[in-house]
Amino acid sequence: MESKKIVIANLKMNMTFSEVKKYVEKIRDIHTKRVVFCPSALYIPYFLGYDYSVGIQQIANEDYGAYTGQISSLQAKSLGAVLSIIGHSECRLHLNETDDLINGKVKNALKNKLNVILCIGETMEQRDMLRTDRVLRKQISKGLSGLTTSDLQHVYIAYEPIWAIGTGQVPTNRDIKKTIQFIQKQVSKEFRYEDICVLYGGSVNHKNIKSLSTIEECAGFLVGGASLNPKEISKIIEVAVKE
Ligand code: 13P
Repeated sequence: MESKKIVIANLKMNMTFSEVKKYVEKIRDIHTKRVVFCPSALYIPYFLGYDYSVGIQQIANEDYGAYTGQISSLQAKSLGAVLSIIGHSECRLHLNETDDLINGKVKNALKNKLNVILCIGETMEQRDMLRTDRVLRKQISKGLSGLTTSDLQHVYIAYEPIWAIGTGQVPTNRDIKKTIQFIQKQVSKEFRYEDICVLYGGSVNHKNIKSLSTIEECAGFLVGGASLNPKEISKIIEVAVKE
């Protein structure tokens, strides 16, 4: 039976081109359109050549212009990308992305008909201080500010607790479920939209995917490190998408 989960493979800044070629050879038996690969932007055309659904990890908030080094959602869409990850904690941290900038990127992507994966999540310190709800509320409110209900049909929220990214630590299923319900309630309360899709990301791997897939409220997974191993991502997809 086909489950409703989707899998977004965030390959981050990994692999040389010769490694990408080997990787793609090893994932050739993955055919479902419920999986989106987000490689380094340089390799997007290569993945598209193999007919994968492809997303971009990062976009600018303008269509064109004197923005050296940046890539616009218009350009990504014109190549064939289907979505952009926006507001990843690594971009918030290393590139000083603010909620306002993130909101500009969200609006720009939607204007150019690119689906959005808006990443939100708390640090361990914020969690310990019982500030998770407050942090997420602000990220949702600012990140989605000005969006209509028809815009929101093209937005997924990825709940990625920062302390779970690349650490092997994962919240309990109960905590993930509670947090997803909180996110859905917030979006419903503030934007009058009941059907927001929420993904989970942070140390998803072939061992925990079976259990994580039982969380009904979770629409799918954003997978980092484990997606670099062809066998591991194939297993994750097998369980999350096809089971
Ligand atoms: P890991 O799966 O390596 O924890 O990374 C999660 C992530 O940041 C996906 O965007």
